[in-house]
Amino acid sequence: MNFTIIVLLLWIIINCSAQQISQTVKMYGNEKLLNIQIILSSQFDFQLTYYNNQTHSFEILHCSNLDSCGCQSPKFSNFYCFENNGEYYFHFSKLPYVNGDTILKKENKTQIQDNHEIESHSSNVHFRILDLEEYLNKSLAAQTVAYTDSDLSSSLQLGTYELYMKWEIYTNGSFDMAIDYNQLNWIGFGFCPTMSDCDMIVLYVSQQTVIVLDTFSYGHSTPRTDKSNDINIVSYAVNSTGYKVRFNRKLDTGDTSDQVLAKGDKYTFCVAWSGADQMEMHSAWYNFDITFDNGIVGQATLSNGESILYYVHAVVLFIGWGIVADFGIIIGRFFKSINSYLWIHAICFIFVDLSTLVLVVLMLFVGGSRGNTEEDGALEAHKIISIVLGLAVIVQHILGVVVKHFLESTEKENRQALFTIRMIHVVLGTVMYLAAKVDIILGFVKNEEKLLLVLGIIWTLLLILVRIGLEIYKSFNSSIRTKIAPQQQQPLSEQQTKLLKLLQGNHPSASIIKELPQIKWVLLNQDVYDVTDYQHPGGNFIISNVNGQEISRYFYGAFQLESTTMEPYTHSQFAYQTLQKRYIGTIQNVNYNNQNPGSFWDLIEKVDLSKNISLFNFTNPNFQINLRQNVLDFGQHFSVTLQEVGGKIRMYTKVLCMSNPYQTFREQVIKYNEGKTTQPPLLQFDKINTVPLIIKKYNFPKALSAQIFEHQGNFWVQGPFGRGLELESKSKCIAFVGGTGILPFLDLLDHLLMKSIYLTNKQKQQQIQQFFPQYDQLEESFEFTLLASFQSEEEFIGKDWIRKLYLINKTNDLKLFNMQIRYSDSTLDTVIPAFRGRFNEELVRQHLGDYNKKVYICGPPNMIYSLTQIISKTEQDQTKVMIV
Ligand SMILES: *[C@@H]1O[C@H](CO)[C@@H](O)[C@H](O)[C@H]1NC(C)=O
Ligand SMILES: *[C@@H]1O[C@H](CO)[C@@H](O)[C@H](O)[C@H]1NC(C)=O
Ligand SMILES: *[C@@H]1O[C@H](CO)[C@@H](O)[C@H](O)[C@H]1NC(C)=O
Ligand SMILES: *[C@@H]1O[C@H](CO)[C@@H](O)[C@H](O)[C@H]1NC(C)=O
Ligand SMILES: *[C@@H]1O[C@H](CO)[C@@H](O)[C@H](O)[C@H]1NC(C)=O
Repeated sequence: MNFTIIVLLLWIIINCSAQQISQTVKMYGNEKLLNIQIILSSQFDFQLTYYNNQTHSFEILHCSNLDSCGCQSPKFSNFYCFENNGEYYFHFSKLPYVNGDTILKKENKTQIQDNHEIESHSSNVHFRILDLEEYLNKSLAAQTVAYTDSDLSSSLQLGTYELYMKWEIYTNGSFDMAIDYNQLNWIGFGFCPTMSDCDMIVLYVSQQTVIVLDTFSYGHSTPRTDKSNDINIVSYAVNSTGYKVRFNRKLDTGDTSDQVLAKGDKYTFCVAWSGADQMEMHSAWYNFDITFDNGIVGQATLSNGESILYYVHAVVLFIGWGIVADFGIIIGRFFKSINSYLWIHAICFIFVDLSTLVLVVLMLFVGGSRGNTEEDGALEAHKIISIVLGLAVIVQHILGVVVKHFLESTEKENRQALFTIRMIHVVLGTVMYLAAKVDIILGFVKNEEKLLLVLGIIWTLLLILVRIGLEIYKSFNSSIRTKIAPQQQQPLSEQQTKLLKLLQGNHPSASIIKELPQIKWVLLNQDVYDVTDYQHPGGNFIISNVNGQEISRYFYGAFQLESTTMEPYTHSQFAYQTLQKRYIGTIQNVNYNNQNPGSFWDLIEKVDLSKNISLFNFTNPNFQINLRQNVLDFGQHFSVTLQEVGGKIRMYTKVLCMSNPYQTFREQVIKYNEGKTTQPPLLQFDKINTVPLIIKKYNFPKALSAQIFEHQGNFWVQGPFGRGLELESKSKCIAFVGGTGILPFLDLLDHLLMKSIYLTNKQKQQQIQQFFPQYDQLEESFEFTLLASFQSEEEFIGKDWIRKLYLINKTNDLKLFNMQIRYSDSTLDTVIPAFRGRFNEELVRQHLGDYNKKVYICGPPNMIYSLTQIISKTEQDQTKVMIV
């Protein structure tokens, strides 16, 4: 901008058929000629020499193609070049006087008489010099005519400006028009709604002379003078505050650059001006409706309606895609802990998408250019991206609705569809989001306010940084990092209070679910959570599946949902927070005592039970547990980690019957029962501060069990947790177990052993009662059938005493316990009868009996999956099926 645009010398060197024509144009002095237009054919080569008033030196610009000419560069803000139909137009304005004689040799002047065009000697090179001398001459001629407009019958005030357009249409096919303007700056009128490809007249005052130019604007560029000047200035007057001018034109001039006007037709004209005395980029721009007829008097409403749409589209879409979309995405992705996150996400995008759709359609079909911008690559790209976005939002919305439908579905069959469609939704959404960001920036490019462009880019980058930051934070939070003390909802609803009461009263989960069907709840350890209104991000079938269960094995990623083939999922800190918000209470367990649950435990002993299975005895001086267990606590579990928070957590079943003092005791009981000793057995300790856990070592990478086997030092053990086997004293049960799946039943089996001995040893019942005080917790009618499948005999934990349990029942015709066994290595058990093949439908049906037994399933995931499939096909009461 700061460069002077004094072009001192212009050499035109035209390369053509090996001939060079060299011309020298001197530009200085006499300000008379105002406008030069040079048209060159495809090949040209010239130099511009200009004075740079900052460096105080002459600089040369070589111009051999449009890119190199610096057209419209700050150096030459009054120099335009453009290409049209293979011709190159070079246009100078506001330059000092250039004498046409010095551009072309004098002898060739004769050739430019008609329409100011000369043919050079070579056929494919020609110059056209549109000097303004003729306009000036006409104005000077009109100086002598006194201005009057009282005979013009139409007069329109343009808005509230002191600007009047007056006219009279004559029967001979011409009209007189007068512009009365109480300002001295230039003003342009277009005989069309916008200046895009529009016939325009440009008025200005130069040295007290009013000039009226007959021009045409190509696109939105500065209007250029027509080949033929069809405006005849009639008269004008200039005073110190404004000017008025009257001119005459034919309705149809015959020039393709002039709009054909017809008497009585309605038009929308436009008007533009700036504060400058000669034409430059306009600041004000309006259009107005006009009935082009005689006798029209009044005031025209000026509007830049297109601009209003432009600004509405800019502001609304910036708010939409620049603010609301980010908010919606951030909520949808990172704040699933908020109850109504899905709705917030949806509402954000209903706003974004609806506004996009409406505005894209409006901009395309109503039009909303700012009236001063040139169509170019950026704008084209902006348009195309907008159209694609407008279509994509429709698709994206449909996908969103489908995702929501599947999320809310409680059918696990929809899981795959949910994952696929959600993936498409996320990928498409991300692409659209990025495209919209690019589009916003492209939209800003056309704005003269470069500050806005910079702010727009900064804002966009800032949001992208926030997104990246949140992504990092989320990945950092992909496991539980900090413990959160659960905050109880206040006050609890009637249902919630009842739920806690039933849980505390050890009612079986199935009956609680039956009794309180409206409420959905889960346990994490001993804490109870109400998840009735929770929308699970993985789909609500998950909630239906875990309703009424202790969920730590799913939550910490140890197991997948057994009834599906999903992968296990380790929940994040966010998920943990989400759950904690739904906390309603904790179940108190009276049978153990943990003074200081926040401490590390020591491993005091590790006994190998088989190649991969070991019994770990963990101890903690602050912990005490009663060896004489309540049957309701059978099957509870402990969680083990190697660090307090973060890291993997795995659940292992409590097997108190495998603790050292109890094993000794059991051996004594058996001996006593078999008459090998008369010394009544004695349980040395009622309470112990160790926890025996049987752990199987898995050898896949990063398996916690393998780490536990290797670990030196302390462990983090918590428990006992869960509702155990939920035994009922009269029930008939059957358990399908595989491998270590037998572990949750060991305490029960031990209890059944004691009970069998008690029931069958009538003469010693009195003594037995003393060491087996819980003999009446299960009724005599209690039945437990165990169908167990092991790799080999080695894997059968507790086989010695379980075989004894089997034999006592068998020989005494007791119904308490029955068992069938299968070893994969095809060996047969010495005592317990075998069943053949896998757990197939026939075998399962045969053992389900009246389909009203309590069914336990415990084992590897594929066994659980196939068994649940088989059992769901039978008439079995599904509420009595329990996956342990
Ligand atoms: C250089 O030229 C520009 C434009 O003509 C003018 O505004 C500016 O004052 C000049 N600068 C100097 C140092 O003469
Ligand atoms: C001027 O015209 C003469 C003959 O008419 C021609 O030889 C000469 O090249 C022309 N000069 C230019 C600059 O066109
Ligand atoms: C303009 O007027 C001058 C003097 O009246 C005359 O010599 C010249 O040819 C005119 N120019 C045009 C382009 O009509
Ligand atoms: C048409 O008539 C008007 C008024 O009588 C006159 O001023 C104008 O010059 C005429 N135009 C033509 C092209 O004859
Ligand atoms: C100057 O001219 C303008 C425009 O024609 C007119 O509105 C204004 O009244 C004039 N002022 C004087 C002092 O004549």
